[in-house]
Amino acid sequence: MAMVRIRRLEWRPGFSVGIEVIDGQHKTMIDALNSVGEALERGDAEGCVRLYGDFLRLSSDHFAAEELVLFSSGYPKAQEHADHHKRLLEMAELAREQCLKRVLSHQETECFNALLEFLIGDLLEADIQFKSFLEEMDRTTRKKVLLN
Ligand SMILES: [Fe+2]
Ligand SMILES: [Fe+2]
Repeated sequence: MAMVRIRRLEWRPGFSVGIEVIDGQHKTMIDALNSVGEALERGDAEGCVRLYGDFLRLSSDHFAAEELVLFSSGYPKAQEHADHHKRLLEMAELAREQCLKRVLSHQETECFNALLEFLIGDLLEADIQFKSFLEEMDRTTRKKVLLN
């Protein structure tokens, strides 16, 4: 297979939602997706399947934790946000299945890039939107929500 160029995603301070646990989970997800990218570049279909599996597990754990915060804080866009999470899981599952089916092709790179775009463009951006919502909450409520 011809060498494919895969984009790497670096976490940056602008992604911070001001909640350490969530920032940490985002960093782990980014690392996991970068590992998928490296496997794609090596043309390692088996590695991709396994690493997509890791990414899926990390992501669904993270989304569950984040949705708990969003719903219990009364965030108005909680449902819309949860739908975005679901969409990412579907995209990752589809990408994993494609790697399962065949030798890596151009299509897997496209799937990967779409996933990366969605993670940066929609998910991390949307997470930053609830940052200000949480910041406006009073200290006591905020503490209660985050310790949930
Ligand atoms: Fe989110
Ligand atoms: Fe998130």
